[in-house]
Amino acid sequence: MAGSSPSAKRLEGKVAVITGGASGIGAGTARLFVQHGAKVIIADVQDDLGNSLCQELGSDETITFVHCDVTVDDDVCNAVDTAVSKYGKLDIMYNNAGISGTVNKTLLESDVEDFKSVLDVNVCGGFLGAKHAARVMIPSKKGTIIFTSSIASVIAGLTSHAYTASKHALVGLTKNLCVELGKFGIRSMIEGILLEAANLKGVNINVEDIAQAALYLASDESRYVSGLNLVVDGGFSTNNPSFINIISTALSGQLPMPPK
Ligand SMILES: NC(=O)c1ccc[n+]([C@@H]2O[C@H](COP(=O)([O-])OP(=O)(O)OC[C@H]3O[C@@H](n4cnc5c(N)ncnc54)[C@H](O)[C@@H]3O)[C@@H](O)[C@H]2O)c1
Repeated sequence: MAGSSPSAKRLEGKVAVITGGASGIGAGTARLFVQHGAKVIIADVQDDLGNSLCQELGSDETITFVHCDVTVDDDVCNAVDTAVSKYGKLDIMYNNAGISGTVNKTLLESDVEDFKSVLDVNVCGGFLGAKHAARVMIPSKKGTIIFTSSIASVIAGLTSHAYTASKHALVGLTKNLCVELGKFGIRSMIEGILLEAANLKGVNINVEDIAQAALYLASDESRYVSGLNLVVDGGFSTNNPSFINIISTALSGQLPMPPK
């Protein structure tokens, strides 16, 4: 972008709520957003971690912790209202809180309570975040709503049914929001992530790489981008190694060669 440099503050004057901001990707994103001039509300259920992160990253004038369980309507409402009452507005709603639930379960081993709890946090939590954000963004005719999804939003069979269903659901939600909210100048995007196993070598992915993608989606540099599932996976989802594996196995003499 003309006039910007890598060190420019790309979120100067903006206000963000980050759910699940007390640890992991959310905490890394909060750190980067503050560095780029944003005022940040960390909304999470981990009070001690959230409060100590706020102390580390800035003062009350720049970053605030709000206890918020994203499955509770009043909590999400309060997180958004705190952003407005404390910092004057809400520009960026980053619905990042998510749980994996019980992993590696087959369908018959899966229990419905686990399924519901994953959907509740990952999907309903995001829905509530979007709804309360839109409530304050629509009157100001701008805003950005972002979700953290996963490689499980584009590839099946890698994770539990609950997690895969939840991350696919976020893609649909994001696209529906994009259609409805575009007329109000509100963008809706999603970030698909895989932290390991990429086919891109020589790069050790870390939380900052994910935070940088969130920074792009949150900043004015992506102002004409909406409805996007930005997959940050080092190319993993573009590669299907099964054909190569069959050829290699055949060449090693363990299988008949496939017909040409
Ligand atoms: N780490 C990965 O490899 C990976 C890969 C793909 C996608 N993701 C997604 O990234 C997001 C962040 O995950 P992470 O890896 O940073 O994990 P994490 O466990 O470090 O962070 C998740 C945060 O969400 C919070 N949280 C959980 N339930 C909550 C609730 N009901 N209300 C409010 N906050 C709640 C937790 O307290 C925690 O701070 C999730 O949506 C996850 O599905 C992670």
